[in-house]
Amino acid sequence: MRMYDIIMKKRDGYALSTEEINYFIENYTNGLIPDYQVSALLMAIYLNKMDKRETLDLTKAIINSGDTFDLSKINGIKVDKHSTGGVGDTTTLILGPMVAACGVPFVKMSGRGLGHTGGTLDKLESIKGFRVELDNEEFEEIANTINISICSQTGNITPADKKLYALRDVTATVDNISLITASIMSKKLAIESDGIILDVKVGSGAFMKNIDDAVRLAKEMVDIGNLYGRKTVALVTNMDEPLGKAVGNALEIKEAIDTLKGKGPEDLYELTLVLGSKLLYLAEKVDNEIDGRNMLIEAVNSGKAFEKFKELVRYQGGDVSYIENPELLPKAKYVLEVKSNVEGYVKAINAEEVGKCALALGAGRETKESIIDMAAGIVLNKKVDDKVEIGETLAYVHGNDLNKAEEVKNRLLNIFVIGEKNQEAKKLIYDEIN
Ligand code: URA
Ligand code: CA
Repeated sequence: MRMYDIIMKKRDGYALSTEEINYFIENYTNGLIPDYQVSALLMAIYLNKMDKRETLDLTKAIINSGDTFDLSKINGIKVDKHSTGGVGDTTTLILGPMVAACGVPFVKMSGRGLGHTGGTLDKLESIKGFRVELDNEEFEEIANTINISICSQTGNITPADKKLYALRDVTATVDNISLITASIMSKKLAIESDGIILDVKVGSGAFMKNIDDAVRLAKEMVDIGNLYGRKTVALVTNMDEPLGKAVGNALEIKEAIDTLKGKGPEDLYELTLVLGSKLLYLAEKVDNEIDGRNMLIEAVNSGKAFEKFKELVRYQGGDVSYIENPELLPKAKYVLEVKSNVEGYVKAINAEEVGKCALALGAGRETKESIIDMAAGIVLNKKVDDKVEIGETLAYVHGNDLNKAEEVKNRLLNIFVIGEKNQEAKKLIYDEIN
């Protein structure tokens, strides 16, 4: 087999065979095929697309390029949750304890944030002492003791994806449905959970900017998950404005605590309930999603979900007093108020721009090596469709660098679009794919 012939075949619009896909992934991972040939193939795939069988083969080949993670030593039916990435997406921190409090194991290997989107591991590390680096035995033991554990990925999982993703990033071949599906699903399927729930984000803060594309991506991912033999469902949800109110590491931990106590932002709580009820149903804990929803609400109202979060923090080495008293969490030196100079209704709050503001304050990573300012971030006081008076606070800027905080304050004033009331009320969930 020759890479040249594989490139030519895809260039001319034909489907690649299973053997051809395996050949190129295996030899690219080993370093035997150079980047320039794979770049050409990626562009051919981008332009001529892959069918479902090819996408499944590509996903499998990427999984086989490295190790898989066996969860069989953890008791119960394990359902993994994955969000395609957004701004202020605090759901994992709320969903995990809620589901675990209902008796369903929630075990997750999470990632760190890069660019304008945050990562669950970084947020957890704003709690003093919290350890995200666990070895496999520790991860299994904690999960079996308290039903929940969240750690960083260990081992050599999907090395082909790391190389391919870096190459796609610099060759304008990221936004292709098959390539995205194989990239995301290979990483999810390499962790051997019993089910997968996907939260596909769409809007200004997501990499899918329109609903049709997001639904197409969600359907493809659900198909590939199910064809691989894993129960997979997806939601397509709004990322036009940030989720909840807080964007930033310690600020989102505080938001998670509030929500677990039943005092969080409505959209964040609602999305967690919808994801959670699907998760309890997938894990066969309830016969239908309505029972699941009620069980989750009960876990919050009884205080069990909040207790579960404290247990997670304690078992992973964190200082629980930070959770009991969030005032102890890292705090910014300056908190500036962004005040409206017009009256009307909030029409839009571009989530990507808010994410970039948080990044400028130090809440995120410009590069993999950047050090995060745990205290920095933004808290929205108004959300889309809210009424605003002149002089009312739109948002709070939390920063340790006064110049940067002032600059972000001015940027935010332009990010809030205020005017006539929107014709249609905003939607949180656009579609469900079961
Ligand atoms: N996230 C991924 O992990 N892969 C993609 O291709 C796109 C987003
Ligand atoms: Ca949030």
